[in-house]
This record gives sequence, structure tokens and C-alpha cells, in this order.
Amino acid sequence: MVLTSVWETRGQSRAPSDQTLPGRAEVTVVGGGLTGLTTALLLARAGCGVVLLEARQLGSGTTGRSTAKLSVLQGSRLAGIRSRQSAGVLRSYVDANREAQAWVGRFAEEHGVAFERRPDHAYANGESGRRLVDRIHGAATDAGLRTRVVDDVALPFPTYGAVRLDDQLQLDPLELVTALSDAAVAHGVQVVEGARVHSVKGRGPLRVLLADGRELATDRVVVATGMPMLDRGGFFARMTPARSYGLAFRTPGPAVDGMYLSVDPPSRSLRTAPGTDGDHLLLVGGNGHTTGRTSSELERVEELRRWTAEHFPGADETHAWSAQDYLTHHSLPYAGPVLPGSDHVLVAGGFAKWGMTNGVAAALAIAGQVLGGHQEWASAFRTWSPREVRGLARGAVANGEVGVQLTLGWLTPPRRERGSVVCTHLGGVVRWNDAEGSWDCPLHGSRFDSDGDVLEGPATCGLRTKTTKTMDEEQA
Ligand SMILES: Cc1cc2nc3c(=O)[nH]c(=O)nc-3n(C[C@H](O)[C@H](O)[C@H](O)COP(=O)(O)OP(=O)(O)OC[C@H]3O[C@@H](n4cnc5c(N)ncnc54)[C@H](O)[C@@H]3O)c2cc1C
Ligand code: FES
Repeated sequence: MVLTSVWETRGQSRAPSDQTLPGRAEVTVVGGGLTGLTTALLLARAGCGVVLLEARQLGSGTTGRSTAKLSVLQGSRLAGIRSRQSAGVLRSYVDANREAQAWVGRFAEEHGVAFERRPDHAYANGESGRRLVDRIHGAATDAGLRTRVVDDVALPFPTYGAVRLDDQLQLDPLELVTALSDAAVAHGVQVVEGARVHSVKGRGPLRVLLADGRELATDRVVVATGMPMLDRGGFFARMTPARSYGLAFRTPGPAVDGMYLSVDPPSRSLRTAPGTDGDHLLLVGGNGHTTGRTSSELERVEELRRWTAEHFPGADETHAWSAQDYLTHHSLPYAGPVLPGSDHVLVAGGFAKWGMTNGVAAALAIAGQVLGGHQEWASAFRTWSPREVRGLARGAVANGEVGVQLTLGWLTPPRRERGSVVCTHLGGVVRWNDAEGSWDCPLHGSRFDSDGDVLEGPATCGLRTKTTKTMDEEQA
């Protein structure tokens, strides 16, 4: 099944990118999603010579498949951060997201990107969710947000109340990508699509090596690819790939009044979007899981369909899709040096499905590091800090789970006998995704299409031990 997001069929027109790789760049940004594009634009505006390398097309990663709510409320995330971090760190995180949201709002107004202001709600399905609602409200108000708890939630099914934050933004992420790319090119950024980076070597100048054998020399590299493809810094051990599902439905009028995200099971995300013919769309998301670790992806999609049919009868499905983002073990995003003490190679990621603001905040923080600026809140995004290293203990637990997956994959008899299909990143045994017709790695989230070509994740080359017969058998 081909899963296509509601934004991908809207046909944003954009000038084709240059395919010529220059020999040298002052700063090379890797990854043409929201984070990479914003970083490239900010640096180019300040006078840096920037080349942006994108493996596929701009926006074809998570950004083009996002639900694209720009909310500082963020479901249960603020309570989750507060349970692991100090009040000051949470305040910095909230300040970062507020600044990023304001930045996108200003950019959208200046560049004619349509957006809507809506209240966001983090709602409870049950009593434990209600206790979480109260904790979220406490954490949010301590961090300076004007949230309030509401008991009557305007949803067509019972709830146990919600935290509400007014005046948040929602938009079409690919419309934003097009405007960012136009602005970046206008400021001199050279965008090269179809350029998958394999590795970064050397020191001053660095060599950026592409999977197709090309290379360029550069003073700095910013890796904005979700999970970095670099083997330094141990970021594979610090992040978990989380996949989830989205559906769009045509509805006679706006089906919900605002944005909604449940804080307890079942996980559901709701928002509206304008249709292309003056009609209304309802976007329903949820049913997430660690990439490559579910018995049937298709069943996750079907269950979301059944839930929508029950609660929004008559909603007419137009799109179904899936995407992944990366969770960190200390609950905070990253924007900073890949290794301590060196700022020549910087990474950004770990946005936990809140990168529409965190990705922009990471770009602002990285631009500050490159240009010598300073944001008080940027400490919440540090890649190397004592609290981050403490979080690595939690990472060790997740990597214990990675080890179990690695062993299970190699020992499962039927697959082993026929020859396992092995991930080219670090040797995980990939599994067939029955919703998207892809091979997904349960270790760090690399995904490959049915021919074995890389779709996303840290892998930089196609499936090495692919045997056509085995893959055909799996798909049958
Ligand atoms: C289902 C879902 C719903 C979401 N909804 C929301 C939401 O409502 N609000 C919110 O704030 N956030 C949301 N998010 C999260 C948000 O969309 C992401 O955090 C954000 O889009 C990440 O942007 P990015 O630029 O960092 O990554 P991406 O958009 O994934 O961009 C990375 C780019 O790097 C490229 N790339 C990868 N490897 C290489 C390589 N080796 N060489 C060159 N290029 C490479 C990829 O092709 C890709 O284009 C959601 C995420 C998911 C999964
Ligand atoms: S993604 Fe790391 S081993 Fe597959």
C-alpha cells in the first residue's frame, strides 16, 4: 500500500534544485526538512556560504508527514520533562518552543504561508489521564504558560477533562517548506537534492562524502537528519525511533473546534485542515510504536479507521500515512556538537513528535552557536551536559532492548534458514512492514523500500544481503 500524507498531494510548486555539487562550502547542512532548511536560511541571512544536501526531496522526511500543530502545550510532554528535569530546564524548554513558534508565525506572515490560530487541548480518556492533566497544568503554569483545566471537552466521546492553551498554530508543513526553501535560495543557499551523505571525515577542512561517491570540502557540518548517520557521539544509543499513523477525512463542517491530543491510551491526535475545494478535513493520528517492533502496522491503521468511524460517522477517508520521529532518553531535544569540545560538526534531533517548534528552536540554537550568539534557553538543547549523561543510564536500558531485538532477529529460525535480510547500518534484522511495504529495522529505525533502497533512518546504503527470493517470499 502506498501511504501518502494529506500535504504531499497538494502539489506545492518549487523551482527544481541544482544537482551540481560545489567543491567547497563554508557550512554544509545535511537534511532538507524543517530543521535543516531553517538552519540554512538563518546562516545564509547572516552572510555564511551554505550548501544544503538532501538525500531525497526537500520535506520528504518527517516534516512532509507531520500533523503540523505548532503548540507549546504538547500533550503530556511538559509533565514528562518536569518529572526528569528541574523547573529551570522546563522553563528553558518552554521558552525555546515559544520563541520558535513566534519565529514561524512571523515568517509565515511575511512569506504568505497560510496558518490558523486554534486552542490546543491535552485531554484525558480516564481517571489516570485526569491526574496527568492536573500535573501538566501545574508544570505548564510553573513554566509561565496560561493554561487552564476544562471539564467539558467538546469531543464526541466521553473524556475526563483537558488542559487548554489558547492561540496555538496549525498549518500545512510543505507550504512552509516551500517558502523556507525559496527564502533560503534567495539568500544564496545552494540546495542539492538526491544527495545522500554517507560520512564526514577529517578535520579543518572536513570532507563530506556522499553515498554516490561525490564529496565536498567544508568548514562546518550541521546534521539535521533526525537520527544522525554519523557513528560518533553515540546518538544511536540515545534515541529511539517512534513511528505513528495519520488519516485524513473529508467532513461536512469542521469536525472539532481546535487541536486535541490524548494523554492516556488510546493515543489520539485531532486537528482540522482546510480542504482544497473549500471543504473541511479532519486529521486523526495515533497508534504509535517503536519502528519495526509491532506485529502488524496495517492493523494499527485499521484500528484508527474503526475508531474514527465510531466517533465521527460519515467522515470520508482521503489519505492514510505514517511517519517517524525520535525520542531521547532524557526527554529533551538535541542541538549542539556531535562530540564535546568541538563545534565543527553539529547535530539536531530528538524532537519526540514536537519538531515543528523544536526543530526551529534547534536551528536558532545552532545558528547562535555558529555565529556567536546566545539564547538563555539553548542550554535545554545541549548535546553534552551532566543531565544528558545521566539520561544515558536510561539509554542503556533502551539499548538492552536493542540488544534483545538484535539477538531475536538473528535467532528466529524460519528467517535465519532462508537468509536474513540485514540492515546496512549496524546489522539489525529488518522486518516486513505490512502497511507500507517496506523493510523496517527494529534497532535504530532505518527503513528500506521493497527493492531494498534506503527510505529513512541512519543507514546510508541499500540492503546488503537482499535475496530477491527471500523478499518475494516475505511479501507473498
Ligand atoms: C506522525 C507524526 C506527527 C507529528 N506531528 C507533529 C505535530 O503536530 N507538531 C509538531 O511539532 N511535530 C510533529 N511531529 C514531529 C515533526 O514533524 C518532526 O519533529 C519534524 O518535522 C522534524 O523535522 P526535521 O527537519 O528535523 O526532520 P525531517 O523532516 O525528517 O528531515 C530530515 C531530512 O534529512 C534527510 N536525510 C536523512 N538522511 C540523510 C542523509 N544521510 N543525507 C542527506 N539527507 C538525509 C531526509 O530525507 C529528510 O528530508 C510529528 C511527527 C510524526 C512522526
Ligand atoms: S538502523 Fe541501526 S542497525 Fe538498523
